[in-house]
Amino acid sequence: MARLKSEGPKKMASTLSKHSLQPSKMPRVKILGTGSFYPERIVNNHEISKKVDTSDEWITERTGIKQRRFSSPDGGEFPTDMARSASLTALKNAGLTPNDIDLIIFATFTPDHRLPSCATILQTKLGITNQCAALDIAAACSGFVYALSLANAMIKSGASQRTLIVGSEMLSRELNWYDRASCILFGDGCGAAVVGVNNDPTDTSDIISCTLAADGTGRKFMELEYGGTAYPLTAEIIDTPKRYMTMQGRELFKVAVRTLADISFSALKMAELTVDQIDWLIPHQANIRIIEATGERLGMPKEKVIVNIQEYGNTSAATVPAAMDGAISEGKIKRGDLLLLTAFGAGLTSGAAVIRY
Ligand code: UT7
Repeated sequence: MARLKSEGPKKMASTLSKHSLQPSKMPRVKILGTGSFYPERIVNNHEISKKVDTSDEWITERTGIKQRRFSSPDGGEFPTDMARSASLTALKNAGLTPNDIDLIIFATFTPDHRLPSCATILQTKLGITNQCAALDIAAACSGFVYALSLANAMIKSGASQRTLIVGSEMLSRELNWYDRASCILFGDGCGAAVVGVNNDPTDTSDIISCTLAADGTGRKFMELEYGGTAYPLTAEIIDTPKRYMTMQGRELFKVAVRTLADISFSALKMAELTVDQIDWLIPHQANIRIIEATGERLGMPKEKVIVNIQEYGNTSAATVPAAMDGAISEGKIKRGDLLLLTAFGAGLTSGAAVIRY
């Protein structure tokens, strides 16, 4: 039976509410397979600079991003399409078929439709006929780590045997072209993982600890108020900046660095491990300077940090799983390695996980 334990990260204990699983006395949970998908269309900084007053030099220097991918607006690369491809790869790598999945958790804030959920659409697109439970979660850029933590809890409690978790985003549809500081950051993509019970006593793979947090008082740092029930899209605002997300970049930057490190330390503490024992840090890819500052705070050598922001930009809930899948495919991450996943996003949400891959 999963036990919930509450314990705030070191420097944010007063503001963060945290729900974490105790690592011991529960079945082990293994990442059975991963997959990722990026749309075909590459959009480099020069192309962006034709739309807004910016330059390749500024974007590269301030963010580390050189290019990103944009989904085709004509279809075939919507979040559930990307998720289908990434999930099929994850299932193949796990040696499983779609009907082996008994739960789908889909993290996104750019769903194909408002109804039904992406998770149920994905169920159909994968040809799953076992009527497994399927739900979407909205935790912005922390979405995949939230999904992983929920899957871990469901599997450790015996409620699921094999969960498909996905982070998939089509941010190109939501870009605020009125704001040159934010529109340069984001791209589209997807990462997926199949996680399941590890019954092999000789196999040490496990999700050792997960720590989730949220601080709703930071809402103003990044929000999109219109298009919901409070402020529906009307003819007057449809072509105005109000329709798009707003971001206080500088403020967000500072909180991101502090939070990514604090939540990581919290997950490490829960796992009873120290940074020097971790083989790979897989941070949310928001800005190369945030990644580097987080690595420094944690005391993690640069060569142990997985970075792909230069190629894909910030793909929100997809950054962590897609970067993890990329590093696994490249042979960097090997079975038995200790991974530290850490994410931060609008909300403000954050999450970290320590995994024996
Ligand atoms: O996934 C989580 C969500 N997002 C984040 O985590 C974003 C966190 N924040 C950041 O990554 C950075 O704050 C940004 C990349 C958004 C901005 O970088 P910055 O170094 O914090 O720039 P700034 O906002 O302090 O602006 C510095 C200058 C300003 O000009 P002045 O006022 O000094 O003349 C901006 O107008 O840079 C200007 N600027 C730009 N110039 C060229 C802002 N955006 C651009 C741009 N091109 N795209």
